[in-house]
Amino acid sequence: ASQVAGAAPAPALWSSRLAFILAAAGSAVGLGNIWKFPYITGENGGGAFVLVYLVCIAVIGIPIMMAEVMLGRRGRHSPINSMREVARQEGVSSHWKAIGWLATLAAFLILSFYSVIAGWTIPYIFHAIQGDLAGVDADRAGQMFGDLLASPIELTVWHSLFMALAVLVSIGGVRHGLERAVTWLMPALLALLILLVGYGMTTTHFGAAVSFLFEPDFSSLTAEAVLVALGHAFFTLSLASGSMMAYGAYLPKGVSIARTSLTVAFMDTGVALMAGLAIFPIVFANGLEPGAGPGLIFNTLPVAFGQMPGGSFFATLFFVLLLFAAWTSALSMLESVVKWLEEHGMRRAKSAIVGGLAAWFVGLTTVLSLNVWSGFTPLDAFERFEGKTLFDLYDFLTANVMMPVVALLTAVFVGWIMKKSSSEEELGGGKGHRLWLFVLRYLTPVGVLVLFLYNL
Ligand code: PHE
Ligand code: NA
Repeated sequence: ASQVAGAAPAPALWSSRLAFILAAAGSAVGLGNIWKFPYITGENGGGAFVLVYLVCIAVIGIPIMMAEVMLGRRGRHSPINSMREVARQEGVSSHWKAIGWLATLAAFLILSFYSVIAGWTIPYIFHAIQGDLAGVDADRAGQMFGDLLASPIELTVWHSLFMALAVLVSIGGVRHGLERAVTWLMPALLALLILLVGYGMTTTHFGAAVSFLFEPDFSSLTAEAVLVALGHAFFTLSLASGSMMAYGAYLPKGVSIARTSLTVAFMDTGVALMAGLAIFPIVFANGLEPGAGPGLIFNTLPVAFGQMPGGSFFATLFFVLLLFAAWTSALSMLESVVKWLEEHGMRRAKSAIVGGLAAWFVGLTTVLSLNVWSGFTPLDAFERFEGKTLFDLYDFLTANVMMPVVALLTAVFVGWIMKKSSSEEELGGGKGHRLWLFVLRYLTPVGVLVLFLYNL
């Protein structure tokens, strides 16, 4: 029986290991892979950044994912109450639920701007259907994107539509429908990325893209780039934001957490690398700037679709799939908040509406920061934040500050506070467990701290 006041009844579990993998992959694979990974790779110089990112995924991301899924499965509640429940089981201070709070706050803030970006895909679906993309060159694509960002009304419409879609499905509970949606989403997305990579190979700039992505030049790597790579490892795997804990809460006992986490991380990384291989040939073939920022895929992909046979059809499909991928991720962000509200006596439908509406409201500030408030850069006094709009600041604060802090605290809690026998119970003992514990005890905390100090 649960010790948490007002807690929801014992959750129905995922129907299988595969069901969890699909849901977790649905959460992980999203804008982070296809929109964010290429543009931050472009901004941070390519190969060396990619390598650091891959190391962060393998060495820090996967062990933290295992820790979070485990905490969720032991707590069986929203991230906040799961942390409280696990702390109770371990006989330690309930203040450790602060990890859950911080994670939920990060998820909420991310959702607010994620919805705005996801909204961008909707007008591109219409452009593609109407054949607007046929024959588009880099200039026209840039203009199209610029027009979209310039209109707060249009951005608000798409942002509202996306959030409404997320809330609607969240009301029904994430377990229904999600499994089936992700089953065809992933293969279809992969097939389209393969098509785009294939297009890239015809541009004669494929080699340049491959060396940009995979030939590291460490002389250009800054401390900030390393922090961005680490932050992105958390962001892209949906860590440090409660999502993996919230989904882990439905994971049946006996399913291998290590194998499951590895599978999800592999899929996520595969999609990101494919997106990079799809986008950079187009960037170089059209003389575009790799460091062009958040508009990168919207300035490049229309050009590719505009030139390939059947482009309007494939473009429609691609932007629909991107919308779906973003939507399954948004659902997982909402889940931490909604479940917590539910545990405090609010009905599911009301919880989803309240959570979604609040995030929608904060999202309006991101909408405005793309146009009317684009000159509003409130932290100019600090060199590091100079020129950053509200949207830039939300992104930086969540991925590069809050997520590393949550991951650090999670590592300390699981590595030092929780009994070794408790995690052994969940993960099995032996060499693998010892290695995992070593990483959480020493590598993750020291790595995050050193990086923070370097960046100060
Ligand atoms: N992992 C998602 C992506 O890459 C984003 C996300 C972050 C989802 C945090 C849930 C929680 O798009
Ligand atoms: Na991702």
